[in-house]
Amino acid sequence: MSDNNEFKMKTIQHGGRILAAVEKYGIAKEDWLDLSTGLNPNGWTVAAVPDAIWQSLPEECDGLESAACKYYGCATCLPVAGSQVAIQTLPTLRSFSKVAVISPTYAEHEYNWKQAGHDVIQLSVDNVEEHIEQLDVLVVINPNNPTGKIISINKLLSWHQQLSGKGGWLIVDEAFMDVTPEKSLVASGIKPGLIVLRSMGKFFGLAGIRCGFVISDKELLQRMSERLGPWSLTGPTRYIARQALCDQKWQIKSHENLIKSGLRLNKVLNEHGLVPAGGTALFQWLKHPQAKEIYEACAKQGILLRYFEKTTTSKPSLRFGLPANKEQWQKLSDVLIMLSGLINKTENNNETISTYV
Ligand SMILES: Cc1ncc(COP(=O)(O)O)c(C=O)c1O
Repeated sequence: MSDNNEFKMKTIQHGGRILAAVEKYGIAKEDWLDLSTGLNPNGWTVAAVPDAIWQSLPEECDGLESAACKYYGCATCLPVAGSQVAIQTLPTLRSFSKVAVISPTYAEHEYNWKQAGHDVIQLSVDNVEEHIEQLDVLVVINPNNPTGKIISINKLLSWHQQLSGKGGWLIVDEAFMDVTPEKSLVASGIKPGLIVLRSMGKFFGLAGIRCGFVISDKELLQRMSERLGPWSLTGPTRYIARQALCDQKWQIKSHENLIKSGLRLNKVLNEHGLVPAGGTALFQWLKHPQAKEIYEACAKQGILLRYFEKTTTSKPSLRFGLPANKEQWQKLSDVLIMLSGLINKTENNNETISTYV
């Protein structure tokens, strides 16, 4: 049953709206396999939060910042209530700017820069050089969601140098970086004009606590902190996030498991004639002329995927997240077997051409 809060979703649609799928397809919540997000399906397990944490105001010297600095390998960082908050706030910290977002990607960046009145263009990785002289801000999602593409540290540093020299910013959204920490820009040292965003929603699978980090120079973090005001994270969020960031044993095991699962998902899709065009350990991305039909066929069987419409920079596509356990892997295989009868597996440059009967 829908409630009266649909205005909240008036902006951009994301994966993970399982209740809307329950209503649309008439399948009970517990019968869905939700692969529509790129979240770790076996996230960090939250233990009980002490009463005192619920009952007092959040404290800034509770060790969260230092745990995050140690985990991310930086000298200073600002916790935010999800990296989404930083995506919404950064555009308010600049006067009118010419901004480029490497696309296709997580649509919230472009949306929020436009909402704040900036001039925003979409670029592909290959035409950044051509435009960078005219830009004030370049936004890169690394690894990209949903394409999985990773841009090298050297390339990013060269873009940063060109932008920061004239007071510009390079924003690197590393929400999906935890499984490939060696590719993170953080280790290269934080300089003015470089802003890195991290999320605890993906690798840690803690999307519900709403916690992310901004890693940048002190002056920018100070401005953002003032804009966000006091208690921008809840005490329980700070408590849980600090514990997860300190749990190295869990991190090492999950890193290993996610790499295996990512390869397995790629293999399973390939075996069923669906050849991913990219991905990370947490998701696979499939460009397909009939992405919408595959989405619908899976949804009717209780598997929710993330569908991306055709845009000026990309064909229609699907993102597959990771199943959590044996039963879920089996369900995915069973549904893909059923689908393969409908797909004509003629491959064309990594894109499977399908015809439905
Ligand atoms: C690339 C990217 N960045 C940032 C976010 C926001 O994540 P959160 O606010 O949970 O940290 C998302 C959410 O899906 C995302 O895909």
